[in-house]
Amino acid sequence: MERDLMKKFAEIYGGEGDIRSYFAPGRVNLIGEHTDYNGGHVFPCALTLGTYGLARKREDNKLRFYSVNFSRLGVIESSLEELVPSEKAGWTNYPKGVMWTFEKRGYKLPSGVDFLIYGNIPNGSGLSSSASLEVLTGVMLKDLFGFEDLTMQDLALIGQYSENNFNGMNCGIMDQFASAMGKKDCAIFLDTSTLEFEYAPVKLPDAKIVITNSKVKHSLVESSYNDRRNECETALADLKKVVEIQALGELTEEAFEKYKEAIQDPVCRRRAKHAVYENQRAIKAVQALKADNIEEFGRLMNASHVSLRDDYEVSCQEIDILVDLAWNHPGVIGSRITGGGFGGCTVSIVKNEEVEDFVQSIGREYKAKVGHEAEFYVVEIGDGARKL
Ligand code: GLA
Repeated sequence: MERDLMKKFAEIYGGEGDIRSYFAPGRVNLIGEHTDYNGGHVFPCALTLGTYGLARKREDNKLRFYSVNFSRLGVIESSLEELVPSEKAGWTNYPKGVMWTFEKRGYKLPSGVDFLIYGNIPNGSGLSSSASLEVLTGVMLKDLFGFEDLTMQDLALIGQYSENNFNGMNCGIMDQFASAMGKKDCAIFLDTSTLEFEYAPVKLPDAKIVITNSKVKHSLVESSYNDRRNECETALADLKKVVEIQALGELTEEAFEKYKEAIQDPVCRRRAKHAVYENQRAIKAVQALKADNIEEFGRLMNASHVSLRDDYEVSCQEIDILVDLAWNHPGVIGSRITGGGFGGCTVSIVKNEEVEDFVQSIGREYKAKVGHEAEFYVVEIGDGARKL
């Protein structure tokens, strides 16, 4: 892979000088969905799929971007004086947003860069291709310009800041954190209110994690996401009148039931219910995993899906079909939608000896019901972003 990309870099920009290679992974979240902007817990892991970047410093202020995935766009030129979001800039808004954030934080970029990017995360699949590109950019800039004091957590926060303020998606910290901090064969149990975290080994001798891509991405994903976030904020403001909390993640199920009538709007009440219960599910799921109680882990995943479907309303028909098919498959221990929602992927835990049949039969039935193929990936949990 790296060798092919090096060849491509030389072909596009010339092969001289100090060309460096980097990688940042995508992620799948096992449980704890839409909790990260509510001060709750998440449990994602980094994938071995992700985004590769090659970079070489320039003598001037120019920025040149080339994506192997969007080769028809050719080389996109810009400069350090043009770090402003624009529709025309397309995918380069992600790296540019990270550069803008570096400068805003006092990390002045001393020169321009030539970048070549290649990603193998399926586009629009909800496996965090944009977060991986942001974290990748952070790792590249840190290394190229020697910003040694920046930690991987700082790079995750810079990625989130740029996504929020440059790209207009009000995401939480989960995706960038998982891409920056991932660890092979472990999921990250992260408390998003403090950023304290723990690596939990995912040792499933009898089962595999299987991602199923519905290959649908419904429009308005970003605006609907931002709506959910606002609804949670409205619920929190109502709750604050009757209970002293800073975030929905501080409530137990019992406390929520006690105070929920303070939330005026029934839609906001349902959103808050999801956020509170989902956070508790994430905590319980990690305990179950540590106790090797994978059945309980699966039950919590299933309950997570029901809540995301009915209370949080971020699922869609195609995803519900995939989850229903999975629930009815004898090899499935648990299955749910993963990521932001409105399309994208499901994550399932499937018994080893049933994986083949899961892929075949669900693939067939999904195609018959929806009209197009789903895609399946048997997950390997990889390390976080790094120089190669
Ligand atoms: C998207 C966001 C994350 C998180 C998930 C939902 O992936 O980027 O911050 O909110 O949705 O859990």
